[in-house]
Amino acid sequence: MRILVTGGTGYIGSHVSVDLLNEGHEVIIIDSLINSKASTINKIAKITGKTPLFYQDDLTNYESIQKIFKNHGVDLVIHFAGLKSVSESVEKPLFYYHENITGTINLLKCMQDSQVEKIIFSSSATVYGDSEAKERTETMPTGQNIANPYGRTKYMIEEILKDVCASDPNFSTVALRYFNPIGNHPSGLIGEDPNGIPNNLMPYVMKVASGELKELSIYGNDYNTPDGTCRRDFIHVTDLSNGHLAAIKALETPGFKAFNLGTGTPTSVLEIVTAFEKISGKSLPYKFVARRPGDLAEIWANPSKAKKELNWKTKLTIEDALKDTLTFLENHQ
Ligand code: UFG
Repeated sequence: MRILVTGGTGYIGSHVSVDLLNEGHEVIIIDSLINSKASTINKIAKITGKTPLFYQDDLTNYESIQKIFKNHGVDLVIHFAGLKSVSESVEKPLFYYHENITGTINLLKCMQDSQVEKIIFSSSATVYGDSEAKERTETMPTGQNIANPYGRTKYMIEEILKDVCASDPNFSTVALRYFNPIGNHPSGLIGEDPNGIPNNLMPYVMKVASGELKELSIYGNDYNTPDGTCRRDFIHVTDLSNGHLAAIKALETPGFKAFNLGTGTPTSVLEIVTAFEKISGKSLPYKFVARRPGDLAEIWANPSKAKKELNWKTKLTIEDALKDTLTFLENHQ
């Protein structure tokens, strides 16, 4: 199949592009490079022996995106492109709504113009918002008590996709709700490498391990959890990527479907730090600081629906992810 991947040079998009190429699909990447590098294309080519077609463009540029669709017979779209910093979204909500929402509307309009009717959307566990239950299932309500504009864009895009499916009986959408992706391709060539000071746990741990940052601040050790730190469902990005390949089959039936992609098992922030120290053989300087506003104490996936309907489950461990992270760090020093 010829698959258009938006955000294909980003952390998750690059891993999925590798797997698609390895499966024999043709890949066309559109990425604005706002938060990624063009050199990722060469790295994807090095891993797979195949070079994806690449357009540096932003989805908010309707005319040029439309041209890309007109020039290539696209079979389906996997949509990763979007801004993803929680804190930045609080400071610049309109920027986030413009890039994520307008960008997606343009993409969907271009798809309709070219009769492309299949899309996999990179959604997030954040759509569930806060709730009493720690384990999230797809039947739970979405959109309530979402703590920030970034999270709301993910929820709003899911709603837009539901409306498009309702208006067109041939349109099919799979929204994949990611939990906390970590790790990278075992080659250590591609991985998460954000610009500036990272917001997320693993990129921060990596910068402390490489000596670029002095110490990790662990946000809160007074939560009602086994060790007092927050617990999350950390999933190896390779497992996450395989979930996209499994989702392609689910697009054969029209309509909107959502699936959690997670392991089903929570791990605490402190457990991640301890496991990283064990695998690297070095201590990782950290200190406990106040809770970060908006953080949930615990959240993890119930992945049964993906297992049953996509025949997908995770295979890799936190240790696998941390070993691969060390390979990435060695390659990038
Ligand atoms: N954390 C620290 N120190 C840091 C960074 C993070 O202690 O420097 C802690 C956080 O407080 C949290 C845990 O590590 O308890 C995980 O934090 P991340 O920022 O890595 O991830 P979140 O769980 O906050 O957010 C992730 C994704 C979001 C998504 C959300 C859905 O990054 O895109 O899951 O639950 F919306």
